[in-house]
Amino acid sequence: MLAPAATPALESLRADLEGSLGAAAVLVRPEDKAGYLTDWSGDWTGDAVAVARPGSVAEVQACVDICRRHGIGIVPQGGNSGLVGAGFPPASGQAMVIVSLSRLNAIRRADAANATLDLDAGCTLQMAKDAAEAIGLQFPLALGAQGSCQVGGNAATNAGGVNVLRFGMARDLILGLEAVLPDGSLWSSMRGLRKDNRGYDLKQLFIGSEGTLGIVTGLCLKLHPKPATIETAYLGVGSVEDAMAISALARGELSELVTAFEIIGTECLALTRLVDADLASPVSPAFPVHVLIELSCGRRLDGRALLEGFLADMIAQGLASDAVVAQSGRQARRFWAIREGLVEGQARRGYHVRSDVSVRLGDVPAFVAAARAFAARDWPDWVPQVYGHAGDGNIHFNLLPPIDMPRRDAQDLGRRITAGLFAIVEAFHGSISAEHGIGRARTGAFWDGLSEVERRTMRAVKDALDPLVLMNPGCLIPLAEEKA
Ligand code: FAD
Ligand code: LAC
Ligand code: ZN
Repeated sequence: MLAPAATPALESLRADLEGSLGAAAVLVRPEDKAGYLTDWSGDWTGDAVAVARPGSVAEVQACVDICRRHGIGIVPQGGNSGLVGAGFPPASGQAMVIVSLSRLNAIRRADAANATLDLDAGCTLQMAKDAAEAIGLQFPLALGAQGSCQVGGNAATNAGGVNVLRFGMARDLILGLEAVLPDGSLWSSMRGLRKDNRGYDLKQLFIGSEGTLGIVTGLCLKLHPKPATIETAYLGVGSVEDAMAISALARGELSELVTAFEIIGTECLALTRLVDADLASPVSPAFPVHVLIELSCGRRLDGRALLEGFLADMIAQGLASDAVVAQSGRQARRFWAIREGLVEGQARRGYHVRSDVSVRLGDVPAFVAAARAFAARDWPDWVPQVYGHAGDGNIHFNLLPPIDMPRRDAQDLGRRITAGLFAIVEAFHGSISAEHGIGRARTGAFWDGLSEVERRTMRAVKDALDPLVLMNPGCLIPLAEEKA
């Protein structure tokens, strides 16, 4: 483990980083680096020459300059909540430095009149949401990791979450971006403009780039009015088909007021109980699919009446079997705890096959049926867990290994299962990653799935901005494909 770190060249790199940032901001001891080198799921562990923790944009530039001079790759790291092995270097392979953004965490400007929030990339998503609330507005991006993930990480992964239906992905919520480029220069589009057609919209290149084109240091976020009313309902339905029919009707009949439409396969409830044994389902677990619907609106609309009327119709039409509308914020949070708890329950259960695929809305039921049939036929000992942002066509089709299977065996089989699942996604012309990204977990499947012209264009972008392959080598683009 000490081998790469002990060479004179790497010692000199560390000395340069310490000279620029101060020794306290450069972590080199294994015990200090450890928290930056494992992920939330425990699936990935890595190693790094050092973890640099710049405290200003100028210090980020200094890190990039030093690493470039030393020919050392950089992995930007935000809240390290990513799920695809993208946020730290692998344990074996070339030496790299992690640049952690966590000290770059100031709110720069909250502008109520413009409904925008300028902030450092290292602010957590929760900080952004709180800062928006403080000026009477909302930043609607919402995901389970919002207490730890950073807005820079959200931009770099184009994060989705539960409110995409109404407000879009991170991409739709970013009006301006500032990034340190691999040559050390600072690129910025932080003007806070809603309309700006001057040439290419270059900020979009950095959104979803997973740290491969530069280090995002600042963002201008688009805020939305804070709803006066948020209504939440929990439904029991007979099938994914019925859930998707309700989703389509909700979009049409509730005038785009629906902010979330999530499905939970009832098999997932056992996972929630691993986290909170007392968390009861509001409707019978005998219904195979549960649905969470959230509607939000301003004070001139009666959200409760709209939602109750809609649900009564769904029951009358036989699409929903049972529905409970939360009578308080507390009850609504209990509904959401079921959805969030199952994700944590999966992690407690240990290694599992995790996916975040998407297909066209009309294909969701057939896709889920095909994936379930594949699992039952080829992997009968594994238990599928189906849930996700069905309103966006984004399904987490996960599988739990047999309880006593050693982790290493499960991981080996998991790779084969994932390949089979991705083949089904491809047959539906879907996406193997709707929200978590490619990282190091999926480079092969991603790259193989591109046409020649798509690969050429991706490489052209990478070569133009990062000709030395300094930024997150081996992430997104397979190492063998990157031009050195
Ligand atoms: P990290 O994990 O630190 O990094 C992720 C990637 O972004 C890496 O490639 C890294 O190099 C790059 N990066 C990070 N910061 C920067 C920066 N400043 N500049 C350039 N590159 C950078 N994701 C969803 O989309 N939807 C969900 O619903 C969702 N739910 C989740 C629930 C849980 C419990 C967990 C653990 C994760 C969930 N995620 C979800 C995944 C994850 O939270 C998101 O991908 C998040 O956006 C990552 O942010 P981060 O700051 O933790 O990034
Ligand atoms: C979710 C994450 C895992 O939807 O994407 O909970
Ligand atoms: Zn998700």
